[in-house]
Amino acid sequence: MTVKKAVIPAAGLGTRFLPVTKSMPKEMLPIIDKPVIHYVVEEAVDSGIDDILLITGRGKRAIEDYFDDAPELMMHLERHGKCQQLDALREISRFSGIHFVRQREPKGLGDAVLCAEKHCKDEPFAVLLGDDIMKDRTPCTKQLIDIFDKTGSSVLAIQEVPTEQLHRYGIVKGNESGENLLLLEDIIEKPSPAEAPSHFGSIGRYVFTPALFSCLKRTTKGAGGEIQLTDAIRLLMKQEDVYAYIYQGKRFDTGDKLGYIETIIDYAREDNAMKKDLNLFLRKVMRQ
Ligand code: UTP
Repeated sequence: MTVKKAVIPAAGLGTRFLPVTKSMPKEMLPIIDKPVIHYVVEEAVDSGIDDILLITGRGKRAIEDYFDDAPELMMHLERHGKCQQLDALREISRFSGIHFVRQREPKGLGDAVLCAEKHCKDEPFAVLLGDDIMKDRTPCTKQLIDIFDKTGSSVLAIQEVPTEQLHRYGIVKGNESGENLLLLEDIIEKPSPAEAPSHFGSIGRYVFTPALFSCLKRTTKGAGGEIQLTDAIRLLMKQEDVYAYIYQGKRFDTGDKLGYIETIIDYAREDNAMKKDLNLFLRKVMRQ
């Protein structure tokens, strides 16, 4: 059975982006003219997934509105011949098959994923964090699905993390098991540099067998007093094989202020209408 479902947790408080996240979900922060969550949903769809469950919560209505139809707005654009803008809205309509469920309290990423149990039932599923954008010729989630199809096992994407950032990630230990593939031996959430078993951190893309749900139910509060997905993966790893895949593409952590700015600059530099003037501006700023 291949992966046909995706879960996108987007119910976190986004405290690193306060005060703007007081009234606006961080997943709706714009990367020029599209919100972060647009790119995350697009990755799932481009990976062949046609059933997406978004985990939202209080103050996240803007996400539902974004993926809803807007017939009045479309009629208005049609009447005024605004074809380009109309196409941009039609692109969102391509993301059909989106469902929503609310996490009652932001008790942690593990708790958010557990909200998807009824929806996923006994099927394998992908998880894409709602504030991480991945950029590669083949979508990161598709690369994970290909590994799942070969191994039948859960797999998480990892990348090398600098020492000063180890405390922000789930850090893995694994045994080489193929090209860019490790068989997971351990994973520790937010370790100090001394505790970290490697420099490879989990970067917000996963494919899980449904056995993860029973592990999540057995997971108690961990780092930061939250139900951590990492702790559930640790339990899963003890009952079945879990792989870690070294993802080679670009990754942007838009939940972090610097990561957010880097994302916007990267996308703007690929926009033909903007890149020339932006490059001139950046060169000028660098000389100052
Ligand atoms: P983060 O830890 O980056 O999100 O979770 P956060 O807690 O909102 O951020 P800060 O640290 O306070 O700024 C990664 C993803 O998991 C979701 C978030 O919305 C984000 O997309 N998440 C996190 C949930 O859905 N529920 C939670 O309880 C926690």
